[in-house]
Amino acid sequence: MSEQKITQDFIGFGLGLRTDHFEYILQHQPAIDWFEVLSENYLVAGGKPRYYLEAIAEQYPVVMHGVSMSIGSTDPLDMDYLKSLKKLSNDINPKWISDHICWTSIHGVNSHDLLPLPYTEETVKHVAERVKIAQDVLGRRLLLENVSSYLSYKDSTMDEWDFLSQVAEEADCLILLDINNIYVSARNHFFNPLDYLNKIDPRRVQQFHLAGHSDYGEYVIDTHDHDVPPSVWTLYQAALERFGPISTMIERDANIPDFPVLYQELLEAQKIAELTLPGHPALSQSSLAPMGAISPMSTNEDLIQDPYQLPSKKVAV
Ligand SMILES: [Fe+2]
Repeated sequence: MSEQKITQDFIGFGLGLRTDHFEYILQHQPAIDWFEVLSENYLVAGGKPRYYLEAIAEQYPVVMHGVSMSIGSTDPLDMDYLKSLKKLSNDINPKWISDHICWTSIHGVNSHDLLPLPYTEETVKHVAERVKIAQDVLGRRLLLENVSSYLSYKDSTMDEWDFLSQVAEEADCLILLDINNIYVSARNHFFNPLDYLNKIDPRRVQQFHLAGHSDYGEYVIDTHDHDVPPSVWTLYQAALERFGPISTMIERDANIPDFPVLYQELLEAQKIAELTLPGHPALSQSSLAPMGAISPMSTNEDLIQDPYQLPSKKVAV
């Protein structure tokens, strides 16, 4: 395997661009490295959302993140959707474009959910071929994100991390590793999340997602409505140790707090990166700066001692 770098440079720490924060961002111009934009909210030119997006994209780097490509479906790829993504990317010049390694629709019916795929050689070939087509339309490498899941297929012949790795290699695409999704799936499917991290090719990881979830003890739901919990911070530290500095953002899609509260949480991500990779030159390029009082500094000891809270034996759900 070549050691040649595939990914773009580290661009720092970002947040998802949310309508609740449009006015705050334009008024206060917070020192943040970048924003992640939910592509589907801005595909139609004109209107208020596009006004805010274009104003913010003039001042900050942005990346595009989609939920509708349905790259694993057996339905034909939606070429109109891909062309509209391309048009949006021409307008706002994102650093990169991502979607999920999943399927969302079948026979033209959209589930509006990010559903897992059967992990087989046949599916690897199917998805990789479709990624190549999408990349041709978009004129750039696509980032594929691992989804959280609550079921598996008896037809699967490989682990999820091998499936993701093989698709990325065959399609020559990049990876958006969602650290929370790895944790959620590890709890639901009883695997060690470190096995997942250790099987992913560091040359292909362009971005991390961090988020919170809802823990029901016997299972975990990926809700994006809580702070990032200690278990996910701990796995984030392990991911930093394996992959080095990776452009990182926090996803919050419900129960969205005021911007300064989320910014504070992003500072925690930055602090953990600095503690894990002390003196790394890439980290010093971040523009993040404290907005007010800071919570007590995390320590390596705190992080390392926090358990993954994995069940010791399989529980029927
Ligand atoms: Fe995510």
